[in-house]
Amino acid sequence: SADLDKIAIDILQANDLGGYTIPTKGLYPYQWNWDSAFVAQGFATFDVNRGWQEIETLLQGQWDDGMVPHILFRKDDPTYFPGPSVWGTQNRALPSSGHSQPPVAASTVRLLFEKDQSATYVERLRVVFPKLLAWHRWYHTARDFDGRGVIAVMHPWESGRDNLPDWDGPAARVDTSGVGDYVRKDTSFVNADMRPRKTDYDRYLAILQFGRECNWDAEKIARDAPFYVADPGVTFIQLRADRDLLALAHALGETAALPEIEEWIARAEQGIELLWNPDLGAFTTLDLRSGVHGEGVSSASFLAPYAGICKARYLEPTLAHFDRMMSKVTYGVPSYDPDHPAFESMRYWRGPVWGILNYMIATGFAEIGETERAERIRKDTVALIEKSGFAEYFDPISGEGAGGNSFSWTSAIWLNWAS
Ligand code: DGY
Repeated sequence: SADLDKIAIDILQANDLGGYTIPTKGLYPYQWNWDSAFVAQGFATFDVNRGWQEIETLLQGQWDDGMVPHILFRKDDPTYFPGPSVWGTQNRALPSSGHSQPPVAASTVRLLFEKDQSATYVERLRVVFPKLLAWHRWYHTARDFDGRGVIAVMHPWESGRDNLPDWDGPAARVDTSGVGDYVRKDTSFVNADMRPRKTDYDRYLAILQFGRECNWDAEKIARDAPFYVADPGVTFIQLRADRDLLALAHALGETAALPEIEEWIARAEQGIELLWNPDLGAFTTLDLRSGVHGEGVSSASFLAPYAGICKARYLEPTLAHFDRMMSKVTYGVPSYDPDHPAFESMRYWRGPVWGILNYMIATGFAEIGETERAERIRKDTVALIEKSGFAEYFDPISGEGAGGNSFSWTSAIWLNWAS
């Protein structure tokens, strides 16, 4: 509706701190990586230039090795923990966290460029393209150190799906004895039942300490980090982003870059088999330390079509899980299997519905002709936002909003896709 359009635009503008956008005031007072990629899509519905600017400010934080951090701390804000002083990333482009987040940005840039290909945007694409290429190369080396064709995360925060039940097993091996005392800030904004537990936070901080102590060295992380788990979420988003980057390379005539990107795509199309959990009939995480698959179906399992992975052998069982999980909730898509004992309808990535996942899943479904399922996802997203506003995430059973409110990426996907 026009009213919700206006509210969504107002939220993006209120969270715009001057060329970069925060996810929501209080809880997340800095620029977050994949948030900005979705925010740019929202801005671009009414201001293409401002969409580009969001990506450009995000890339200002890029490290020399190509990594684009998950948080950019442009100014210190004591309402967030862990802030810039905890990460040990001085001497970088900007104060930042030490690991990345799902690489959505190239997919966004392709959308923006398709909206307007006039000379000024060709020029801006020329500047942004090599930075995206370097970031993708970083993911394909630092986080796929042995060239298996699947992308690992060294921290649950790097996956963007912080407290997914599939991280519980691998993270349980993290030694938290050196973490010491700390004060969380998130639970002063949001009901603790909607957030990760203290055991999770202890592990988050222990992994962070490992990264800081090795100065975020990719090889040390790949070999020795206490947490190193291949993630279908990042792997599928990366594969989609590689295809989009390839299209941009063609558009620019960047022929030198083509073979490298094509190789990443080919490797992932093979490698993805590693994430297929044959017992479950779904794509899950794979702990690269223990060789053990995650034991639950998550909403990232449904990103295969978005990544262009649609062999019947994968697709049929995946869609069967989708239909089963959707039949258990009022509003989809639940982030974790409602039939699994770890499911919690309000706790962050252990069950709630996330608009950005819905957008990506539905986009992939629509592209392979699964229009009914795609439309159910879109309608559920609309119903949730109409009922509960632009919340961070939603309870799939009650439809209540959860986490932060006046949330940028929920507003952005409303404008770009749901409305
Ligand atoms: C948080 O602070 O909860 C964020 O999700 C970390 O990226």
